[in-house]
Amino acid sequence: MLQTVDPRTRQAEAFRMDVWAGLARRRKALPSRWLYDDRGCELFEAITRLEEYYPTRTETAILQMHGAEIAAFCGEDAVLLEYGAGAALKTEILLDALDAPRLYVPIDIAGNFLKQTAARIRQRFQRLQIRPLAADFTADFEIPSGVPLTPRVAFFPGSTIGNLNEAETLAFLSRMRAHVGPQGKAMIGVDLKKDIPTLVAAYDDKKRVTAAFNLNLLARVNRELRGTFMLDQYAHEARWNDAESAVEMHLVSLQCQRVTVDGRSFAFAAGETIHTESSRKYSPDGFSGLAQHGGWRIRAMWTDPQRRFGVFGMCAA
Ligand code: AVJ
Repeated sequence: MLQTVDPRTRQAEAFRMDVWAGLARRRKALPSRWLYDDRGCELFEAITRLEEYYPTRTETAILQMHGAEIAAFCGEDAVLLEYGAGAALKTEILLDALDAPRLYVPIDIAGNFLKQTAARIRQRFQRLQIRPLAADFTADFEIPSGVPLTPRVAFFPGSTIGNLNEAETLAFLSRMRAHVGPQGKAMIGVDLKKDIPTLVAAYDDKKRVTAAFNLNLLARVNRELRGTFMLDQYAHEARWNDAESAVEMHLVSLQCQRVTVDGRSFAFAAGETIHTESSRKYSPDGFSGLAQHGGWRIRAMWTDPQRRFGVFGMCAA
């Protein structure tokens, strides 16, 4: 008999394994994907509206400003594959600009979110076909055979690519390249390198929403894994890592303390941190070089007047 495991059970087990492994490391770290439970998604939404957090509004303005050129780049009848679609707010701007797109394939691990998003897009674009795909875009998966091969355009906005390390970025770029085929195209949103105070402030806002977003990870461990983190004994920190060209989020232990997670105990020294996220920042040339390694040719970089953010248009090489 085939055993079916509830995806939620599998998810809970994966979370426990990641937390146990991450807290046992000499340099404690937790994968940033666990920041996004329901509460985390709400807090991230609030982050995108913060004064200091410029990426979302800048990318949105770029897509609006350059809609006609972007539409020309994507071509008619596009089959749009969106990776990590989430709420897909920017997709509406892109779909508005495109010339009779024929199919939209939002891809996300959060199945529920995906259904809501598909329903909303269906309301707004009644002639567009939609085929949601529940998959983890950081792992290998195939595009179902019912999706027409041409002309596929991959869309990966939000600078989510910045959360991947170099090996993961290359693997992702190659996978996306395989998904769209030899005639395929891609549009990727990338946060650009700029002065460090601006970069760090975007992850350390005055209203402390980002702090709440980061600390919610410990609250989630407490909720879902019977964790004993004392939330007022950890502080949010955003720091620039020059060698990695990334803003890092950490949770700093304010004292020497122990914590238990599902029966396992971990020790913290005062000042010791858990690294919870890296957001890589690229120069235009740096990102272009990486994309070329991943099998792409850069055709355009749409940007804002201050060159804060870049949307790269690329073709399968
Ligand atoms: C969702 C990856 C675009 O790295 O800027 C925002 C997540 N973390 N503030 C980013 C995030 C803290 C965000 N991305």
